[in-house]
Amino acid sequence: MNTILDLQNISTTVNAGTNEEKKILKNINLKLEDGDFVTLLGTNGAGKSTLLNIINGSLFPTTGKIFLKKRNLTNDSEVKRAKYIAQVFQDPKMGTAPRMTVAENLLLATKRGHHRGLHLRGLDKHLDDFKKETSQLPNGLNERLNTFVGNLSGGQRQTLSFLMATIKRPDLLLLDEHTAALDPNTSRELLELTDKVVREEHLTCIMITHQLKDAIKYGNRTIILNSGEIVLDVKGKDKKKLTEEDILQYFAD
Ligand SMILES: Nc1ncnc2c1ncn2[C@@H]1O[C@H](COP(=O)(O)OP(=O)(O)OP(=O)(O)O)[C@@H](O)[C@H]1O
Ligand SMILES: [Mg+2]
Repeated sequence: MNTILDLQNISTTVNAGTNEEKKILKNINLKLEDGDFVTLLGTNGAGKSTLLNIINGSLFPTTGKIFLKKRNLTNDSEVKRAKYIAQVFQDPKMGTAPRMTVAENLLLATKRGHHRGLHLRGLDKHLDDFKKETSQLPNGLNERLNTFVGNLSGGQRQTLSFLMATIKRPDLLLLDEHTAALDPNTSRELLELTDKVVREEHLTCIMITHQLKDAIKYGNRTIILNSGEIVLDVKGKDKKKLTEEDILQYFAD
C-alpha cells in the first residue's frame, strides 16, 4: 500500500484559554492510500471543513503532523501546499478569477504551483487543448471559453473550478460540498464528472457531502466525523454494505 496522506495526532483548539475554548478536532489519525476516494460525512459543526483546512494549510493544527507522500508539510504555507493539493469549495465564487475568461483561468490552472506572476502569454496555443478538455463537460462550458468567469452560471463556474483543480494532476483533491449550491440535475452531472475523473486519473480524494445517498454511491471509503472525532471509517466491501440507517446511527451524539 502506498500512503499518500498521513495525519498524525491532529488536534485543533480555538480560543484557547478563554471561556470560549473549543476543541474542534480531537487527536485525528488518518492515512489515505493511493487512489482512496473518501466520502466524508458528519453533522453541521462536526469539523469536516476544519479538517480539510488543516490539510490544505489555511489553518494550522494545535498539535500533530501532516505528511503528503512522506513529505512533512506541517509547517508549509497554503501557497506551498497548493502545488500538490487542489480544492473545490462549496461557493462557486471561490477558486476562479471573475475578471478573467474561462480560457485564462484554465491557463493559470495549468501553471499551478509555479511562480505565476500574471503572464498569460501563449494562450492561443492552448485554446485547442482547452476546447478538447472541455468538450465532454456538462453545462456548456465548451462554448464559453472566451466568457468572463463572472458571467458564468454557478453550475458552469463549479464545473470550471473542478476542471482547474484537476487539469494538472494533484497528489490530493479536496472537495468541500462542491455541488451543494447547484440544482439537482447540475449537481448530479458534476458528481458524475467527479467520479469519472477521480477513477480514471486514479486520484486520491476527500469529498465532503451531506447527501447520504451520494456518500454511499461514490468512492471506495466512507468516514464519519462526530464532534471532532472519527467515529466510522469503512472501506471496500464494508463500505458497499453501508446503509443510510447505519450512517444515521453514527450521527447521533
Ligand atoms: N476559527 C474558528 N473560531 C471558532 N470556532 C470555529 C472556528 N472555525 C471553526 N469553528 C467551529 O468549529 C466547529 C467545526 O466547524 P466546521 O466548519 O469544521 O464544521 P463542518 O463539519 O464543516 O460543518 P458544516 O457541515 O456546517 O459545514 C464549528 O462549531 C465551528 O463553529
Ligand atoms: Mg463545512
